[in-house]
Amino acid sequence: MGTLDNKSAVVTGASRGIGRAIAIDLARRGAAVVVNYNSSEAAAQEVVQAITDAGGRAIVFKADVSRADEAGALIKACIDAYGKLDILVNNAGTTRDTLLMSMSEADWDTVMNADLKSVFNCCKAAVRPMIRARGGRIVNISSVVGLSGQAGQTNYAAAKAGVIAFTKSLAKEVGSRGITVNCVAPGFIPTALTNVLPDDQKQGITKATPLGRFGTPEEVAYAVSFLAGDEAAFITGVTLSVDGGLVMQS
Ligand SMILES: NC(=O)c1ccc[n+]([C@@H]2O[C@H](COP(=O)([O-])OP(=O)(O)OC[C@H]3O[C@@H](n4cnc5c(N)ncnc54)[C@H](OP(=O)(O)O)[C@@H]3O)[C@@H](O)[C@H]2O)c1
Repeated sequence: MGTLDNKSAVVTGASRGIGRAIAIDLARRGAAVVVNYNSSEAAAQEVVQAITDAGGRAIVFKADVSRADEAGALIKACIDAYGKLDILVNNAGTTRDTLLMSMSEADWDTVMNADLKSVFNCCKAAVRPMIRARGGRIVNISSVVGLSGQAGQTNYAAAKAGVIAFTKSLAKEVGSRGITVNCVAPGFIPTALTNVLPDDQKQGITKATPLGRFGTPEEVAYAVSFLAGDEAAFITGVTLSVDGGLVMQS
């Protein structure tokens, strides 16, 4: 018996990296999962295949969550497929790193839309059915840089800090309805998002991390599954750092 049996979940940006690990871990614990992607269809299908091969339940759904209409369709797809939405994980995100002096308006808007507006879009669509069901779990993926700031990431750090403030505010709005809203703030996790960083920067991050290594997507997923489960029923509005202690050094 899994701790998330009979739950249904939407994971945004679940075609690869951290979102993939979250979808697989939620399904392993019994949840029926909607694996959202925007452009990586084959990878998303492979995630669904991995879940169903292991005896779990999952469907794939294409949606650009930076668009309100598509985010709404994603939430509806979960309710259509599984009858309800218990868990929403806002994981989709992207970066356009550069110093402010050379950051274009498009660099700013792309990151704000994919990393922050997407959270607004999906939460807005999810909250009404969760209120009707008198319960739900929302877990938003922020970042250590949303807490510490990072040169070259004014757009991304602002979006991720925005996710934390959004989370606290929504947690206050919906707490009386039995809905919890929390953040997970990963440190450095090797994925397509971070593989582009130069080696010296990666070494610097490892050195600054008290645990002396990078994290894994699965280690982030375990924290998300905890916050998504019944055992976290009295936790809301928090940001759980999964960063090997990196945030303490900044
Ligand atoms: N890796 C790290 O070290 C790290 C650290 C802190 C926080 N994070 C956060 O963790 C989350 C996952 O990051 P990752 O490292 O796993 O990145 P990744 O490997 O680049 O994966 C990003 C995922 O987001 C999806 N996505 C991007 N824009 C989307 C949109 N508009 N609509 C729907 N899906 C969209 C991508 O889907 P498609 O490919 O289908 O477009 C992909 O599945 C992000 O929010 C990131 O900011 C990562």
